[in-house]
Amino acid sequence: MAWSAVTSAVTTIGNLLTQEAIYLWGVEEEVDRLQTELKWMQSSLMEAETKQSKDERIRLWVAEIRELAYDAEDVVKEFALKIGSKNKGGLPSRIKRSACCLKEGWMLHKTRSKIEKIIERINDLVRRLQTYGVKELKDRGEESSSSTERRESRPPYPHIMDDNIVGLVDDTEGLVKVLKNESGCKVVTIWGMGGLGKTTLAKNIYHHHQVIDYFDHLAFVYVSQPCRKRNVWEDILSGFKTLDDADRKKRDEDLAEKLCNKLEEKKCLVILDDIWTSEAWDSLKPAFPVATGRHSNSKILLTSRNRGIVPYADIRELKCLNDQQCWELFQKIVFPQTGNKTGEEIKELGENMVKHCAGLPLAIVVLGRILATKNNSLNEWRKISDNVKSHLKRGKNQGPEDVLALSYDDLPPYLRPCFLYLSHFPEDYMIDVDRLIQLWVAEGILSSKQEERDGGEIVEDVAESYLMELVERCMIQVRERDVATLKVKTIQMHDMMRDLCLSKAKQENFVFIIDQSNASSLSMIRKVKTPFFHLLLLFKGSNLYLKLLL
Ligand SMILES: Nc1ncnc2c1ncn2[C@@H]1O[C@H](COP(=O)(O)OP(=O)(O)OP(=O)(O)O)[C@@H](O)[C@H]1O
Ligand SMILES: [Mg+2]
Repeated sequence: MAWSAVTSAVTTIGNLLTQEAIYLWGVEEEVDRLQTELKWMQSSLMEAETKQSKDERIRLWVAEIRELAYDAEDVVKEFALKIGSKNKGGLPSRIKRSACCLKEGWMLHKTRSKIEKIIERINDLVRRLQTYGVKELKDRGEESSSSTERRESRPPYPHIMDDNIVGLVDDTEGLVKVLKNESGCKVVTIWGMGGLGKTTLAKNIYHHHQVIDYFDHLAFVYVSQPCRKRNVWEDILSGFKTLDDADRKKRDEDLAEKLCNKLEEKKCLVILDDIWTSEAWDSLKPAFPVATGRHSNSKILLTSRNRGIVPYADIRELKCLNDQQCWELFQKIVFPQTGNKTGEEIKELGENMVKHCAGLPLAIVVLGRILATKNNSLNEWRKISDNVKSHLKRGKNQGPEDVLALSYDDLPPYLRPCFLYLSHFPEDYMIDVDRLIQLWVAEGILSSKQEERDGGEIVEDVAESYLMELVERCMIQVRERDVATLKVKTIQMHDMMRDLCLSKAKQENFVFIIDQSNASSLSMIRKVKTPFFHLLLLFKGSNLYLKLLL
């Protein structure tokens, strides 16, 4: 979001400087310097934003930059509006205004000194960053990223199978069929949002007796972040039980060649779990015959939250559990012994709580594990039921919100405001895509830099491509398409994703939600300066938001 704020400031200032220079008559030099400083910050921000959730110093740094960007934009806009616009009439208008000269001179002076102060704040920030060594973060490599650490904290253990699996029967059958079909696609992707069971399904396949019988070799490899091709190749060969000491000393190219030959000679199944980017696939593919144009009967199965990792893959979308499956999974975790022989009230509380999980297995597992420790105490259940959402957030190691936050951290900066904007819509709301695009455009949510980069594409097309990117990243779900054109007509957000969206939007000062608990804080809202800032009034007990644009 800081990136968006800085981008917005750079764009506004840039437009004024190039197209409406007359508006900045008298302060061009200062504004130009300011723009240079902001551009420098913009370039350093991309990476910092993904790291901020863990490192407090970076979080503060990013927040400070965001404030600086808003201030910079405000100062320049204010000047252009109050003084600059009067210059538009040219010399006669300036003569007419001679009476106000003193006032304008003072405004000019005030603006110059405000800009100087902002530049000084930027310099001061840079000095502090250097003093505290924050500049080194850029060089420490991807490993230092908090989202990376979080991704790594749930590595799958392929040999350990879950005993509580529910559903997945059709998905498993379908996958086994396509994997055993020689003429079928060589690469298959299991696609779905975080915590939906992609890894669980992939493990199901890995242990499936038909798969074991059909393939000569099987390997299940977790693609760590960042993807290290050498490790992945070695792990695959090790899974095939064909990795020897000599391989470890081989050059990368020779190791890739060995793996490629193996995949050509034998029928192998390679499962690559949790691959995030097409760059990761590009780095791995030299070892795969399918990507190098060589014939092979081997197959590759990927799991990913991103749809477009391998463009020619057969995509299998994983869906949420239905109500019955949710309850079944919940019971298996909470009452492993007694089954459903529980008191009526406990059952009712349980059913209501499970609804909050909205079909996401990870959420049910987290909730179930908390309740399983409460020995069916009605009091304890009531307490948890009163605060299900916060219990779901916390989890034990990683709550669903932490898991889904990885998807947010992975969003490129230009998509973040688009995603956060969805916090305006109530729970379960079917969002009309045309309307949403109009709103994005009208409220300046889309980064104009991107529009330029895309070579004059019209803004609605840019908006639509952003929307599709959010769909491909499983941040939103398509609900209706136009029957003739297949264009997306309505979208919806998973409840858990919406909770994340709302909490990120609040954290980023993107929205301020007023309900009865914080109505008194209305007075402090004047201090919030985010350009996209919206105030939402939430009426207790209803799902209705009233939006006020400030
Ligand atoms: N069908 C299912 N039945 C029972 N438990 C399930 C099912 N699907 C997932 N789970 C449980 O939900 C949790 C999350 O599942 P999993 O790790 O497979 O999700 P994922 O889609 O791979 O998530 P991520 O995108 O974060 O990798 C695990 O604890 C898993 O055991
Ligand atoms: Mg997974």
